[in-house]
Amino acid sequence: MSDILPSLPPRTHWCAALRDGDDGRKVSLRGWMGRRRDLGQIIFVDLRDRTGLVQLVFDPELAGEDLVARAKRLRNEFVLGIEGTVRVRPEGTANEDIPTGHVEVVVERLEILNEAEPPPFVIVDKVDAGEDLRLKYRYLDLRRPELQKIMILRHQVMQQVRNFLSEQDYLEIETPILTRSTPEGARDYIVPSRIQPGHFYALPQSPQLFKQILMVAGYDRYFQIARCFRDEDLRADRQPEFTQIDIETSFLQSEELFATIEGLVAAIIKKTQGRDIETPFERVSYREVMDRYGSDKPDRRFGLELSDLKDLFAGTQFRVLQSVLDRDGEIRGICAPLGETASRKTMDELTDYAKKYGAGGLVWAKYTGGDWTAGSSKFLSDDEKAALTKTFEAKEGDVLLIVAGTAKQVFDALGALRLRLGKDLGLIDESRDDFHWVIDWPLVEWNDDAGRWDAMHHPFTSPREQDVPLLETEPGKVLADAYDLVWNGNELGGGSKRIHRMDVQQRVFELLGIDRDEARAKFGFLLDALKFGAPPHGGIAIGFDRLIMLLAGTNSIRDVIPFPKTASATCLMTEAPSEVSDEQLEDLGIRVRKFLRPQG
Ligand code: AMO
Repeated sequence: MSDILPSLPPRTHWCAALRDGDDGRKVSLRGWMGRRRDLGQIIFVDLRDRTGLVQLVFDPELAGEDLVARAKRLRNEFVLGIEGTVRVRPEGTANEDIPTGHVEVVVERLEILNEAEPPPFVIVDKVDAGEDLRLKYRYLDLRRPELQKIMILRHQVMQQVRNFLSEQDYLEIETPILTRSTPEGARDYIVPSRIQPGHFYALPQSPQLFKQILMVAGYDRYFQIARCFRDEDLRADRQPEFTQIDIETSFLQSEELFATIEGLVAAIIKKTQGRDIETPFERVSYREVMDRYGSDKPDRRFGLELSDLKDLFAGTQFRVLQSVLDRDGEIRGICAPLGETASRKTMDELTDYAKKYGAGGLVWAKYTGGDWTAGSSKFLSDDEKAALTKTFEAKEGDVLLIVAGTAKQVFDALGALRLRLGKDLGLIDESRDDFHWVIDWPLVEWNDDAGRWDAMHHPFTSPREQDVPLLETEPGKVLADAYDLVWNGNELGGGSKRIHRMDVQQRVFELLGIDRDEARAKFGFLLDALKFGAPPHGGIAIGFDRLIMLLAGTNSIRDVIPFPKTASATCLMTEAPSEVSDEQLEDLGIRVRKFLRPQG
């Protein structure tokens, strides 16, 4: 049973607030019990709250046998209230690892506010429990100092975003969660309507359409810390439900928006990490980053750049490459200092890795004793070998990795190989920060399967003014006024200038094969709005969770979201998604086909 609460004075301090200067101060604390150490009659207990911990001392000489006997009953995660006196720890017993390590609190009164069952894992940073167990008991996981720090960081950054943008005349405006499909291109989460059976809301993939409507409504400048929902395959940096710093402005040039975002990011890094970062960030074209790094979000903190080998192999006898050239495909390669590590096994692994990213195979050779050997070297002519040596300035132990195929296959596979080798070979300069904008994106990309042009961002992205005449004649050459922000190889955010003229919007819809009826059905309200004095406008969304991930130095997005979902989009704590009652289904007019086994 819990002891009675009211006899303790109100809390005076957070656990981690006490320092040498508090010596002799009477304090009243609350928290959870962490580690306990019994030293003969004296008991030491860590008392923990969200700020950190402080050591409590139960000493029979100072507090009486009775209190110490009660302290012996304490177990991990009991909720305690204490009153006591701070003292500086005796010489030689300080703990330099924690901020309160020079002091301890000699307990005079103890209240057990609640007991706890033994937790399924010990609440410490170097926890040995698996992630599934920790997600099931997320409230215990969230008690760990590591996660507490991240949640506090999340809060601080959120407040900073609000302050920074408010000071620049941005208004925080909310947009609906129960809405219609938005154009981000992932699958929607849908919510059935009870009042209109057979009709569904879609959860927003982003506030894209509403923020554009707000510009038409004159609410320039808008921001929102917005929740977004996308039913897509999850990865280490993706969640089905995530948060964006969403921004839209009217009458601003892209450059002015870049400056605002750069200022915001620099201020956040200064405040949270105390570092100055260099602004403005470099602007690099999409074409350049693809050609050099095989990625639209390149990590430029190391080399291993791609080389275009199409000319070099123009007259090749190597059948694999010949057939790709016949189909007007691409041949590109990188050259990595794999040295002794380039065993047959490693090369097989790298080949499989390239295949995972769509390559048909990997052409490789090793530079040893002044010649290209092993792998596919026997298919290379002497001239080709000499040209390769020159192109890559090959050195002893270098390994050449070539991918041939469609542009997508080549860039995807080589981009992935480059990144993996950069990591495996320790080539990434972690002390460097690489922020850059990727600009000049193609407006559309050809979808071979569907035989049509798809929007590279979304259908409201504006083509560059000078490229508008090419919309019908050479759509593949039209560049968009779109931009992505990249931080150390991560896509932190993306946005664009929007189309604000109906005639241009119609032409883009036509290019994308969206006919008038479909456009009306999907986005009619936006198209109507564009007719009523839509200002030139544009914006961006920064992935808030990704920003926190990078600031916190963690590589899983689940660490920075209070209640995240697993890779199968399940919340292990609440066990959502779950079945619903027959009555609920009846109300909604929905019949569920029975699945043989639960999904995921
Ligand atoms: P976009 O789709 O590029 O743009 O998203 C912007 C940023 O949101 C983050 N992000 C995600 N973070 C976690 N989990 C996900 N599943 C996920 N998907 C995206 C990324 C990404 O850069 N409406 C447009 C923005 C605009 O045009 O203004 C949009 O949503 O960091």
